[in-house]
Amino acid sequence: MKRTPLIAGNWKMYKTGTEAVETATTLARLCSDIKDTEVMIAPTFLSLPLVAASLEDTNIKIGAQNLYFEKQGAFTGEVSADMIKAAGAQYVIIGHSERRLYFRETDTSVCRKIKAAVEVGLKPILCIGESETQRNEEKTFSVLDKQVSDGLKGFGLDDLAHLVLAYEPVWAIGTGKTAGVDQVMQVHQHLRSLLEKLFSKDFSDQTRILYGGSVNPENAKNLMDIEDVDGALVGGASLDADKFINIIKYNK
Ligand code: 13P
Repeated sequence: MKRTPLIAGNWKMYKTGTEAVETATTLARLCSDIKDTEVMIAPTFLSLPLVAASLEDTNIKIGAQNLYFEKQGAFTGEVSADMIKAAGAQYVIIGHSERRLYFRETDTSVCRKIKAAVEVGLKPILCIGESETQRNEEKTFSVLDKQVSDGLKGFGLDDLAHLVLAYEPVWAIGTGKTAGVDQVMQVHQHLRSLLEKLFSKDFSDQTRILYGGSVNPENAKNLMDIEDVDGALVGGASLDADKFINIIKYNK
C-alpha cells in the first residue's frame, strides 16, 4: 500500500506573525517542486490565518497545534475546531506530549478533541509516546496501546479516514536523542498491527504513522526509510526553512 509521506512542522510557541509569514514564504519557494510528499506547518493560533493567507496557491498545508472540543461558548482563552478550519487549516495536532504534560490533557480529552476535529472535517494528527521511565520499565507498548485505544474510542472507520498517528517518544523531543532505527521500526510495526486489531487491515494499511523526536536533516533519511514510517513531525528543525527543506527532500 502506497501512503503519501507527510512531513509536518510543529512550530510550537515560536515566531511572531511577521516571522512566521517570512519563514512560510521562504519554505513555499523551496517547496515549489515537491510533488510526492505532503508538507504541513503548524504555526501558533495567532499566526495561523496570516500564514494561511501567505501560502494560498502553494503546495504547503496548514495545521493547528491544538483545539478545544466545545463548539463555542464561555471558555476563555480557547479556540474551536470551526474557528481553526475557517482560518485556513486542514490539519490539527492533538494530544502532543507537551499538552499532556503541561496542560494535563488526558486520553479522554484527546478523544473529545479528535471528535470535534472530525466533525468539521479537520484531519487529526494524534500524538502518542512513552516517557523515558515508561520505556525503562518496559511499558512502551502498553502505554501506546492505551493512548491509541482510548484516544480513538467510539469512532467508526468513516470518522477516521484522515487520521494520522504520530509516534513521538517523549525522551526524544527537543533533546537531540533520536530513537534508534530498530526502536522506531519495532514501535511502528506494533502500531500498524494495533490499528488492524482495533479497526481493519485496510484502515491500518492506509493510515500514516509519523515519527517525531529530534528529526533533523542528518537523520531524516535513515528514519524515513523505515518501512512503517510515513513521514515526520518535526519541531526545532522545522523553524528554519533551509533546514526543514532538507528533511522534506530526504530522498533526494
Ligand atoms: P523536536 O523535533 O524539536 O524534537 O520536537 C518534536 C516534536 O515535538 C514535534 O511535535
